[in-house]
Amino acid sequence: MADKKLRVGVLISGSGTNLQAIIDAAYENEIDVEVAVVISNRQEARGLERAEKSNIPAVWVDRTAHETFHSYNMAIRDALKMHEVDLVAMAGYMRLLGPEVLKAYPDRVINIHPALLPSFVGASSIHDAFEYGVKLTGVTVHFANEKFDDGPIIAQMAVRIAEDDTVESLEAKIHAVEHRLYPEVLQMFAEGRVSVEGRIARIAPHPEQTR
Ligand code: GRF
Repeated sequence: MADKKLRVGVLISGSGTNLQAIIDAAYENEIDVEVAVVISNRQEARGLERAEKSNIPAVWVDRTAHETFHSYNMAIRDALKMHEVDLVAMAGYMRLLGPEVLKAYPDRVINIHPALLPSFVGASSIHDAFEYGVKLTGVTVHFANEKFDDGPIIAQMAVRIAEDDTVESLEAKIHAVEHRLYPEVLQMFAEGRVSVEGRIARIAPHPEQTR
């Protein structure tokens, strides 16, 4: 276990089931993480309620209240800084982040995507993979940058598409894997094992595996 908990700021837009998985893993002390703040661009995001229920500061940053994308991103950055966040985890945050946030947290902003990148980028990737007929898809956690679903890949887990799967059953499988993988990756950060060189993210072995 790490000496100090990693303070994570989670960015959401919607239901927040990944957020919930992180909150639960932190609550159960499975990961050395404290969710320091949850920020949503949508006031009605269910994830904000989940945060409040767990006594986590929940912040709605309204894009329409900001004249520019710059000032909107500054507001997000200020909320993250105010809550002394070490790492920013996008979990269903459906917008790009501006350089105001990315530069404030170099190599410290990550995202989860429900496909094996670089295949099936975009907001309908589960559906797209199913319709394409691939036999294997999965989940990717990657560093975020100024493009959608780009940035060095940190971790991936595969999900097989069975003959009897429907898009709904595939969605359920993918989300179950997401809810395992995201807390695991946060723990890798908490243990200081993640680094990045250019396009390549590297994970140092777990201390127990090197003995
Ligand atoms: C997840 O599938 C995530 O991979 C994608 O958006 C979805 C968010 O779901 N980026 P939730 O809000 O965590 O339930």
